[in-house]
Amino acid sequence: MNQVHGNKSHRERVTQATKTVQANQNERAAYRLRYHLMAPSGWMNDPNGLIYFNGQYHAFYQHYPYGETWGPMHWGHGISDDLIHWHHLPVALAPGEAYDRDGCFSGSAVDDQGTLTLIYTGHNVIDPEKDVIVQNQNIARSRDGIHFYKANANPVIHQQPAGMGQDFRDPKVWRENGVWFMVVGATKHDQGQVLLYESANLEEWTYRGVLAQNDGGNEGYMWECPDFFKLGDKYVLLASPQGVEPEGDRYLNHHQTVYMVGDYVNGQFIRSSFTELDYGHDFYAVQTLLDGKGRRIAIGWMDMWESPKPSQKHGWAGAMTLPRELVLTEEGKIAMKPIEELTLLRQQSTPIGPLHVKHVHPILSSGNLVELEAQFALVDSDASAFGIRFCCAADGSEETVLRFDLLKHTVTLDRSRSGEGPGGARTVSIKSAATIDVRLFIDRSSVEVFINDGETVITSRIYPQETSTGMTVFAEGGSIVMPTCTVHKL
Ligand code: FRU
Repeated sequence: MNQVHGNKSHRERVTQATKTVQANQNERAAYRLRYHLMAPSGWMNDPNGLIYFNGQYHAFYQHYPYGETWGPMHWGHGISDDLIHWHHLPVALAPGEAYDRDGCFSGSAVDDQGTLTLIYTGHNVIDPEKDVIVQNQNIARSRDGIHFYKANANPVIHQQPAGMGQDFRDPKVWRENGVWFMVVGATKHDQGQVLLYESANLEEWTYRGVLAQNDGGNEGYMWECPDFFKLGDKYVLLASPQGVEPEGDRYLNHHQTVYMVGDYVNGQFIRSSFTELDYGHDFYAVQTLLDGKGRRIAIGWMDMWESPKPSQKHGWAGAMTLPRELVLTEEGKIAMKPIEELTLLRQQSTPIGPLHVKHVHPILSSGNLVELEAQFALVDSDASAFGIRFCCAADGSEETVLRFDLLKHTVTLDRSRSGEGPGGARTVSIKSAATIDVRLFIDRSSVEVFINDGETVITSRIYPQETSTGMTVFAEGGSIVMPTCTVHKL
């Protein structure tokens, strides 16, 4: 299981820390992103404790400051006024108590009458050979929003209910009608579960039962990082199940992140779906916050367990996705719209359309910090397929391809020639529509594609050379009309 990656000796840690400092003395260290939240150095995984607190956004994250690999987990901390420009704050949590000896694992943050309070999993390795662990739930409070003090009452939940498996982690807490509620990931007889607890004071918790579970289908053995909230007139459960088996084009990542839509009745979640939230190679452990404007905003870890991470050679690993606003569509699906603040990133916008693309049309090369905003009018076109090639090398040796197949009604992101990275393609069905709108964000080693205002989202890491900045649009078997096409330099 991925949560146990072994402990490092002190010497190994010091050596790694030195390497990391060296790597980050160079701001341009290979593949570093420019407008995504990353740790200042070392390793980053899951977003934790996303919260809008006292008019600012806080993002904590799983962090190993002393090296580019997963290690005893700390909580890194970033703060932002607009979810786009982030400032680093000191590490908020470090492991070391009797109850969180081997890691402060994922969790959430709440505003407890003006006190920023973190709720997290204490990870304890009992027998590394046999993979025996103990996990419990803890809290830490802050007076200034920067320094955190672990509560004397920890662990506030010592252990999972009897009969459950040893994995018991990633509490997400919220307040409703004056009561605190917690969902937490668990497993029973190798079926993923989400457990529900409640509390009056964040320190004493009562187990309310199983909120949702894998009832024996292909839904995984452990549901990591649950999040539960109302969206529109429905309830939504997000989870990152481990152990879902591939089914055709679906569930091809090492682990998946899914959403379930349903109703919440007497502590039970009656659901009708289990659907991937993002169709790219690198999206996991998503968490949401509700902000001052009432928006439900999601950020995921923009990487995947067990995938090669070429940036590790340069002393760092891990990034967060761009923030996305979750919206329930009329069909009961979840769309992830790029948040409106992303337009703040635009430095220079160059309209290129309208275009009538017969075979290939070059788009001005604009570096690898770019947003392409393009519309394709299918009613006026007779192409059988069309798409965008980007991060192309001048000598043709590298390219990443987004290709819409109008005969199969699919879209594919192909990174098999993207550069150093792990390669592979992801394909997903799309609805027939008169137009297809695409917003494509490239940030050196990441690509995020939002199709039709976030109805379909594809997020992947790519590792092209710094000089691979070409971009073209293409049509196959006919032509495609693009009423608008704009390149925004970011
Ligand atoms: C998900 C996860 C969580 C755990 C954390 C450890 O990616 O495995 O379940 O709390 O990462 O870093």
